[in-house]
Amino acid sequence: MSKRIKIAIDGPAAAGKSTIAKKVGFKLGYTYIDTGAMYRALTYKASASNIDMEDGDKLSELLDQIEILLVPSSEGQSVIVDGEDITNAIRSKSVTNNVSAVAKHAKVRRLMVQKQRDLTTLVNGVVMDGRDIGTTVLPDAELKIFMTASVQERAKRRYTEDEARGITTSLEQLEKEISDRDRADSERIESPLRQADDAIYIDTTSKTIEEVADEISKLAEGRLGE
Ligand code: DC
Repeated sequence: MSKRIKIAIDGPAAAGKSTIAKKVGFKLGYTYIDTGAMYRALTYKASASNIDMEDGDKLSELLDQIEILLVPSSEGQSVIVDGEDITNAIRSKSVTNNVSAVAKHAKVRRLMVQKQRDLTTLVNGVVMDGRDIGTTVLPDAELKIFMTASVQERAKRRYTEDEARGITTSLEQLEKEISDRDRADSERIESPLRQADDAIYIDTTSKTIEEVADEISKLAEGRLGE
């Protein structure tokens, strides 16, 4: 089997990580794993079961009981939990606004990190995106990227995405929500959002998706040649 590597892509909310990670996965023939979708899936299930988002014990018990499947699809990836397709449901405002609270619990994170590592043992060649992939989940990844963009640009991109999904919102509101989530994800005690020492920093503010995906694919090819 040809040599393949692990690619970790971290960064704040709406920086373009999943769109770009999906493209890089496609270009290289690697499996794409969206770890944010896993925290979102748990948040969705917790809400459906009326579990308090501050109750780390109950949330980790729930996580232990549910089966989260990330299935490749024409759209990139479907999220199936206990047989239910919740791909669209996990992008709702209510999940988005509660997910940082769920993701801050140490017990939840430890279990989630284990599930994420287990997923990588099943595949050869992986692109995983999230907040703590380069620092915690895959510290041995051969290529680590820290991707960001200005808050204004990230709000603009989210606005366009929401519009396409029929969700009406305002740019101001989105900027506030994104900044709040950045703060919560960066200030939590357990594996906060942080650039790994050996990660390459990419600011996508004035770059196209294609440009960034090409840049990362070339970096990956360089690593393969090392
Ligand atoms: O990438 P996203 O916006 O779908 O992620 C949703 C939330 O999940 C994000 O606000 C923080 C959390 N998350 C995390 O704590 N660690 C990860 N590896 C991925 C996501």
